[in-house]
Amino acid sequence: MSKRIESKVSITALGTCLMRATSYYEKDPCYKSEDFIASMIIPSYLNAMAKYNISRSVLKKALFKVPGIYEYIISRTRFIDEIFNSLAENVDQVLIFGAGFDSRAMRFRNQLKNARVFELDAQVTQQAKINRFVKRKIDFPMNLKFISIDFTKDSLVEKLDKAGFGKNSRCLFLLEGLTYYLDQESIDNTLNLISDYSSKDSVLVFDYASASIVRQEEINGDTKIKKHYQTLAKAGERPGFMLEGEIQDFLAKYKFGLIEEVDSAQLAEKYFCKEDFEPVAQKFRIVKAKKKV
Ligand SMILES: C[S@@+](CC[C@H](N)C(=O)[O-])C[C@H]1O[C@@H](n2cnc3c(N)ncnc32)[C@H](O)[C@@H]1O
Repeated sequence: MSKRIESKVSITALGTCLMRATSYYEKDPCYKSEDFIASMIIPSYLNAMAKYNISRSVLKKALFKVPGIYEYIISRTRFIDEIFNSLAENVDQVLIFGAGFDSRAMRFRNQLKNARVFELDAQVTQQAKINRFVKRKIDFPMNLKFISIDFTKDSLVEKLDKAGFGKNSRCLFLLEGLTYYLDQESIDNTLNLISDYSSKDSVLVFDYASASIVRQEEINGDTKIKKHYQTLAKAGERPGFMLEGEIQDFLAKYKFGLIEEVDSAQLAEKYFCKEDFEPVAQKFRIVKAKKKV
């Protein structure tokens, strides 16, 4: 893990939380998502800006500069919320990897009342989240357990065993906005463990960057995207893993079968009634897969 993420709160986790909070106040139904908790845990001056149309436009212009990223985060939130809505009642355990300021353990607490929920993240970011919830007097559900971890260094098996994660049950695994910050080895270790520990019909949801599109971006040399990467690199959260080849082959290595994969054009059509988002969102895919055995 880079030095920054070991000692400072993840800048990308803060960014996605701010986008969800802003989206919560949107009037346009395409831009609206339902993370009311995000709006409670961002700094109060940003929350005040997000609330009103004019200041919200100023905030978006100043902070969400990368074309298409805001739309991508909104549609990713809505897509994954739909999965939680339809599945949460039927799983025994939920594991949220790189949870950041994810609030689904709270927002879906009724549907998840019979499940155990584990959130994994870097210690500093996780503690910042806990502090924000305590400060705003938002209570954590009893079935939520925090596990601090560095996926690139620590043993996931040891961490899960210690936290009481049960083997061979039906699980929902979520890696939202995480895979592209890890290296190939950490991805492989994480997915092997997911495969070994889960029962048939467990569900895996993650998004990833497509290697071929990233290469195309580099050739095109879009300056806004380059700037975005430079900012992330400075913050120690430089994108790493990209998926080469067919998604079906990748999933099969871990005994998962593809249920659904959506790219930016499909998300744009589904949630925004338009053909596609701006370039930055075009490299991302969201995958929903099911354990086969
Ligand atoms: C883009 S944020 C996504 C947060 C959240 N899932 C969301 O969608 O809002 C990436 C998250 O991955 C975590 N992360 C990145 N690299 C990590 C690592 N090596 N070990 C543990 N967590 C890591 C960061 O702390 C951060 O919370």
